[in-house]
Amino acid sequence: MSLIEIEGLTKSYEVENRAVHALQGVDLSVPTGQFLAIIGRSGCGKSTLLNLLGGLDVATSGALRVGGEDVSQLDENGLTKYRRETVGIVFQFFNLMPLLSSLENVALPALLAGKPRRATFERATNLLEAVGLENRLNQGASLLSGGEMQRVALARALINDPQLVLADEPTGNLDSHSAHSVLESLSNLTRREGKTVVMVTHSREAAQIADLTREMRDGKFV
Ligand SMILES: Nc1ncnc2c1ncn2[C@@H]1O[C@H](COP(=O)(O)OP(=O)(O)O)[C@@H](O)[C@H]1O
Ligand SMILES: [Mg+2]
Repeated sequence: MSLIEIEGLTKSYEVENRAVHALQGVDLSVPTGQFLAIIGRSGCGKSTLLNLLGGLDVATSGALRVGGEDVSQLDENGLTKYRRETVGIVFQFFNLMPLLSSLENVALPALLAGKPRRATFERATNLLEAVGLENRLNQGASLLSGGEMQRVALARALINDPQLVLADEPTGNLDSHSAHSVLESLSNLTRREGKTVVMVTHSREAAQIADLTREMRDGKFV
């Protein structure tokens, strides 16, 4: 079974009356429960593809199905629900709320989705323990190291129990030691929870953590 099935996906941007063809016919299927790393140079279309998978942007043409649902056909309400329930995203620059604690950052997406407080804080605590941050639960996010921030962001991506976890250059802003611990946490936690993962990176070293690797060049897979 494939969680993700993509056929002939294209995305073009218009910049000053000139078309930029960021994705030029992407075909991809990702089996449920697998960890895929997509590798490629800067500008080859990795973030564009991940944003489409995350329901953050809409394709120009082609089909993108996740769990049998055609994401390219969803309206605004459908996309909001998809972003909240089906995917969890880890970004290069963490995107934490600096004035909230680790625990509050992780709990926030579940509280915004209307989930009960007590169960949410229990799951948030459990996820933070799983990424080795049991001593940082009440620490303000702005006081954490980069590696700790990214492990909080990882726990947050999992709080709503999404089927699909997406990571865009999750180690791009970290030193090699922190990068290693983030990749270990990403691999261990998503395996424990049975998630399908798509990580994009320009780093061959980071890609080694994955089950499968595919390479992108000029808006397609090679
Ligand atoms: N919002 C945008 N508007 C215009 N062009 C964009 C936009 N986002 C990306 N691009 C262009 O699309 C191409 C692919 O970008 P991107 O997906 O960010 O690549 P990567 O993540 O692999 O570095 C690049 O040429 C980039 O300049
Ligand atoms: Mg990018």
